[in-house]
Amino acid sequence: MHKQAVKTVVFPVAGRGTRFLPATKASPKEMLPIVDKPLIQYAVEEALAAGAQTLVFITGSSKRAIEDHFDSNPELEAVLQEQGKQDLLDTLRGILPSSATCVYIRQPAPLGLGHAVLCARPVVGNAPFMVHLADDLIDANVPCLKQMAEVYAEYGGSVLGVQTVPRGDTDKYGIVSLERQVAPRVGKMSHIVEKPKPDKAPSTLAVVGRYLLTPAVFDDLAKIGKGAGGEIQLTDGIARLMLSESVYAYEFEGKRYDCGNKLGYLQATVEYGLKHASLGKEFAVYLKEFVATL
Ligand code: G1P
Repeated sequence: MHKQAVKTVVFPVAGRGTRFLPATKASPKEMLPIVDKPLIQYAVEEALAAGAQTLVFITGSSKRAIEDHFDSNPELEAVLQEQGKQDLLDTLRGILPSSATCVYIRQPAPLGLGHAVLCARPVVGNAPFMVHLADDLIDANVPCLKQMAEVYAEYGGSVLGVQTVPRGDTDKYGIVSLERQVAPRVGKMSHIVEKPKPDKAPSTLAVVGRYLLTPAVFDDLAKIGKGAGGEIQLTDGIARLMLSESVYAYEFEGKRYDCGNKLGYLQATVEYGLKHASLGKEFAVYLKEFVATL
């Protein structure tokens, strides 16, 4: 089945990152590094691997560092050139391919994830698009958004990345329930609800920061009011979208790290450290010896 190519990805990065204070007082949480790359760079790499060409960042105050990260830095490049540090120069120049375009839109007030996504409407226009929450780092052989683009190419509609979570955690996520399974990892959704209490949750299938949405969701987001936490919730916009279009839940292949909390962030740091091309072996030796002393 032929579907419109998905070329735009939205990164809502306006959140304050209070859980990581004081680290995030003057620097965005999306710039926290996992080993040697900031979370937002992992996010951009995943989006590019899925075919994205236009990267839309929905920003707030204290987010300048994100713009600087994806911009060229001629002074730094000149210094590295002079010092003959070609490897580092290549690393810097490889952060973003020249075919990608970055667009920065300021969210005027922190009104919620749904509102942040709605801010992208003038750039996205009338085309399907992806939303990526950089806090949710997913390590996968095939990047998660690419897996989702393949599901979209097959079934159309909108596609949400989901995974099963412990019942006690349902109040941290958008929780979905399925009308029917259409393929081993793909289910047609019947409901979605934002952060239900464990005893009220319709299932334990949680949305984890990856969305591929049709532009019809913008009309729905424009119509809904404040939801859970007094914010305009993307989940509520999707619930409304489901009244007129098919929405699929896709259980992606890969391991997800919740880098929005400190434990998940540390786990990602350790596991990415162990997989790191130049550091991994040495780090594994250290870690084994260190763990033996505990
Ligand atoms: C947001 C969404 C929620 C989703 C979660 C994934 O919540 O509102 O539906 O399950 O991201 O990380 P937040 O973590 O911003 O509170």
